Amino acid sequence: MAIRLNHTVLTALDRDATAEFLIDILGLEPSRRYGPFRVLQLSNDITLDVLGSEHALNGAGLGADGTVTPQHYAFLVDDHEFDEIFARIQDRRLPYWGDPFHRHAGVTNTWYGGRGVYFDDPNGHSIEVMTAPYEMD
Ligand SMILES: [Fe+2]
Repeated sequence: MAIRLNHTVLTALDRDATAEFLIDILGLEPSRRYGPFRVLQLSNDITLDVLGSEHALNGAGLGADGTVTPQHYAFLVDDHEFDEIFARIQDRRLPYWGDPFHRHAGVTNTWYGGRGVYFDDPNGHSIEVMTAPYEMD
């Protein structure tokens, strides 16, 4: 199959603050601009395009009351990157969890022989960072 995900949109209440948050926490390169988007380049040729809620495409990513609908974005990183990202999460005193349901606060997980952690971006999007991908049947 030759189909590859090329980009997806992350809807944000404050586009620039969200882009800077993700660049800072994840250690990404500075964003580029494309129209109303702040484009975050990831290493596997996918971009995460941060869009202010005022520009949401046909209301995509917004609830009926104009609030951002929380989505989930997961990033696969190596051990060194995980150490750096987790240190920044702790330095900034961000709440974090070992699971997507926020049941296990202040811990990381060791799923699939790796390490993983969940935290929220400024919009309530659930961000996951992990060193081992999910193993599926
Ligand atoms: Fe996930």
